Amino acid sequence: MSMANRNLVTIDDLSNEEIEAVFSLADEMSDSMNEQSSVCQGKIMATLFFEPSTRTRLSFEAAMLRLGGRVITAVDVGATSLAKGESIADMARVVGSYADIIVIRHPWEGAAKVVTDYAGVPVINAGDGGHEHPTQTLCDLYTLKKERQTIKGLKVALWGDLKYGRTVHSLTYALARFGAIIHFRPGPGLELPEHVLRKLTTEYRGKLEKYEDLNHRVKERFFPLDAIYITPSSPHQLTMMPDVSIQIEVRTADALYVTRLQRERHAPVAEGEGLKKDYPVVDKKLLKEKEFKGTKLVMHPLPRIDELAYEMDADPRSMYFKQAARGVPIRMALLALLLGAKEVDIPAEKQPTFVKKIDYRVYNRDFGVRCQNPNCVSVQETEKRYIAPEFKIVATKPLTLRCVYCEHEIHPQYIASSEKNKRYHSADSFMLGWIKPEHLIIFNTEEEARDNRFSPGQYAHISAGRR
Ligand code: NCD
Repeated sequence: MSMANRNLVTIDDLSNEEIEAVFSLADEMSDSMNEQSSVCQGKIMATLFFEPSTRTRLSFEAAMLRLGGRVITAVDVGATSLAKGESIADMARVVGSYADIIVIRHPWEGAAKVVTDYAGVPVINAGDGGHEHPTQTLCDLYTLKKERQTIKGLKVALWGDLKYGRTVHSLTYALARFGAIIHFRPGPGLELPEHVLRKLTTEYRGKLEKYEDLNHRVKERFFPLDAIYITPSSPHQLTMMPDVSIQIEVRTADALYVTRLQRERHAPVAEGEGLKKDYPVVDKKLLKEKEFKGTKLVMHPLPRIDELAYEMDADPRSMYFKQAARGVPIRMALLALLLGAKEVDIPAEKQPTFVKKIDYRVYNRDFGVRCQNPNCVSVQETEKRYIAPEFKIVATKPLTLRCVYCEHEIHPQYIASSEKNKRYHSADSFMLGWIKPEHLIIFNTEEEARDNRFSPGQYAHISAGRR
C-alpha cells in the first residue's frame, strides 16, 4: 500500500497498522543503513524550523541524507520573508515548488495544517506550538515497543507540563489508541487541556478516572495523580476493583515519561518562574521510593533542564538518548514512505483502522466567533486575511466549538439565525435546537453580536436553568 503524498500533522493521520509498518521499515533500514543511500536520490526535503531544535531538525536532515536525498533549510524567521509580513500560505506555496517534501516547526498552533493546505507536497509537522509533535511520538512508541514488546496494557505515567507539552498530546492519543493505561501526573496547574480530555473520552472512547473521584488517597510526594485513562479493551477495569487494588494500580507505572516545563509557552514569564519552583524532579532517590521502584523505563523527549537528574544517565532504565537516536531510522522510514520511495506492507485482511472519526457539524463563517487561543494560526494578523475561522461543534450543552486549526475549545455565549430578524439569543436557550444548522450564526460575546448589528432577542439572557 502506498502512503505517497500523505501529510503528517497529527498522530491521527496514521492508522495503528501504518505506525507498525513505519516501525518495521525503520528496523529494516537500521539493520542495513549502508544500503539505503539511493532510496530518495534526486529528492529534496525543505526543513523550516522557526523554533529552536537540535534533535528533530538534525535527525530529519540526517535521515534524508542517509536516503541519498538533499536538504534545503531555513531556521530563522528573521531571515525569511515571514519577517516582512509574508503569510504562511504564500511561503508554503513557494517552498512546495522548490522541494518534494516539507518538514515544518512553528510556534503557532495549526501552522502545519495551513502549510498542508497550500504546499501541494507532503508536509510533516515537527511541532506546532503547544499542539502536536507526531514524529516525536513515533520515536517514543518505537522505544516502548522495542523495550517492552507491546504497548497494550502498558502503564505509562506522563509527568510534568501536560498543558503545553506537544509531545505529550500526540503521545496521549497514540497510547490510547494502542491500549495503554495512562497516568496523568501534571505539575501544579499544568493539567491536560480540555480538548485533549474530551477527545480521550469521545473519539478514543476510553474511560477517564479523575483522581478526585477515586475514593482513596494516594500518598503524594510532589504532585498528585490527576487522572487515569483506561482504553475500552484494557484488561484492567479499574472502577471494578476494590480500593486496595486501585492503590497498587496507581502506585506503579512501567514507564515514566518526563517533560520539561514549556517555559516559552507560559505567559507572562513570572508565571513560568512560579511554576518552576514546584516542578517535580526525577532522580535516583525518587526511583527508590516504593511507588516508583517498579519503574522499568524512564523516558524524556529532551531537551531536559532540571526535571531529570544527570545521575539517571547511568541507570539502565533511562531511555532518552535511545529515543533520540531512534529518530534517524524512524524519520528515514517516514520520509521514504511519504515520498513514495517505499510502500507499507499491510496484509489485505488487516485494513488500516483509524480513530473513529465523529462526524461533528462544521461551523464556518467569515464573521462572528473566532478562535480565542492567542497562539492559534487563524487569529494572527498575517494569517487572518485568508484563513476563515472554522470549528467543529463538539457539544451543545453547553455549546462547545473546537477550532480546526489549534483544536482549542471555546464556549460561545450567543447565537442567531441568518434567516430571521437580526436578533441574538443565549446559546443556552432552546433556540440552539430551533435554528437550522445552515442558518446558525454564533457569537462569542454580546459585544461581537452588537458589532455585527444584531440586537437582543427574547431569549438573549435566558440561563441554562430556565431553558
Ligand atoms: C520537544 C519539543 O520540541 O516539543 N523536543 C523534541 O522535539 N525532542 C520537547 C521539548 O522541547 O520540551
